[in-house]
Amino acid sequence: MRSPTIRAETICLTGAVQVLRPPIDGLPFLRHDRAGELRLEPLPVTLTGGRIAAWEESPAELRIDASGCAIVPGFVDCHTHLPFAGWRAGEYERRVAGASYEEIAREGGGIAASAHALAEADDAEMLGQSRALAAEMLAWGTTAFETKSGYGLSAEGELRALRLAAELEALVDQATVSTALLAHAVPPGYTADSWIEEVEALVPRVAGETGASALDIYVESVAFSNRHLARFGDLARENGLSLRCHVEQFNTNRSVPVALAHGARSVDHLACLHPDDIGPLAGSECAAVLLPGAEFMADESLAPARELADAGAICALATDLNPGTSPLVAIPLVVGLAVRRYGWSAVEALLATTHNAAWVIGLHERLGSLEVGKSADILLLDVPIEQIPYRLGHNPVLAAFRAGELVHLRDDARPRLRS
Ligand code: NIG
Ligand code: FE
Repeated sequence: MRSPTIRAETICLTGAVQVLRPPIDGLPFLRHDRAGELRLEPLPVTLTGGRIAAWEESPAELRIDASGCAIVPGFVDCHTHLPFAGWRAGEYERRVAGASYEEIAREGGGIAASAHALAEADDAEMLGQSRALAAEMLAWGTTAFETKSGYGLSAEGELRALRLAAELEALVDQATVSTALLAHAVPPGYTADSWIEEVEALVPRVAGETGASALDIYVESVAFSNRHLARFGDLARENGLSLRCHVEQFNTNRSVPVALAHGARSVDHLACLHPDDIGPLAGSECAAVLLPGAEFMADESLAPARELADAGAICALATDLNPGTSPLVAIPLVVGLAVRRYGWSAVEALLATTHNAAWVIGLHERLGSLEVGKSADILLLDVPIEQIPYRLGHNPVLAAFRAGELVHLRDDARPRLRS
């Protein structure tokens, strides 16, 4: 059951000092060298029937005093590993003391440990943990997110994770999109090659029986290779799925040219991106999904985010919420890390967590930017946008609307409501 919400056919928000909008309506994404064209103006906002209706005051059943506030699109977390079971805080303690992610993985920890936890947990436990995390995400402004499999590590385990991801959508207030991460770690009893053979038979079932819209693969020394990535590209195309990939996280494997040659929708991580791959990536419609929370928590290198943005890449940011490298739920924290560590502006970070993130998960026609006719997925913030990264750790979200329903309201925002 979803949380109680406040509904009204017409809602009017007045007095906002900043409303963040794209330079023109109808753009599927905005390349980062154009982030400066985003508009930030004081405007009234009218929502009708769950959609953004007008940038003017209208008679409304529910009026909201937004004086002093910023209004931005609901955050889109385009890379998470929900649903998963349990946590791995012990591994984090070891990594902080010097053990490497790859070393722990080779000892049977890491992804294999979360796979074990998933196999042990019943469906209710899985959904309970994931639903609680989705509620936390909502309170930090996430109104749409990606789910992934990847801890199943068997055909039946992966199908179960994708079924749970679909069930989760009905239990949360956000829009969700599901990705099949069918090559995350080599399952026990397989080689990387023999597991990919198994995956070839699994992909048509995933495409036909689950709601997954994308395939994903982890290319790394402890996981799969560029050859497997190329095969995933073929499988995605043959089965009508988009291709996403975890690449260049701990080592430079030159996976980006392979991903681009196979029409990938996104390349994610990129902490060790080769400099020669920046230009071709920036010239493509493949998004660069950067994960500064994982870079911080897993002590990774920093992605060349300033260079990617200046070169005109479609950059997105996400939490990478998972029990290993990034147990973070809060997009405002990711915005703060990106601004400090990448040298990005607040507007660049917001573009990457809204419009371009919606492009990554294919929801850009419905949501991700404030345009008349789009879903009324909007946030009311208690600070101007430049304070989101600056007040690191502060939660700026006073209220969140999802398809025009007030799905989150902070207690101190209640006096702003007038019916
Ligand atoms: O995005 N690197 C691969 N996958 C995840 C980590 C998963 C885990 O450690 O459980 C990531 O960082
Ligand atoms: Fe990930």
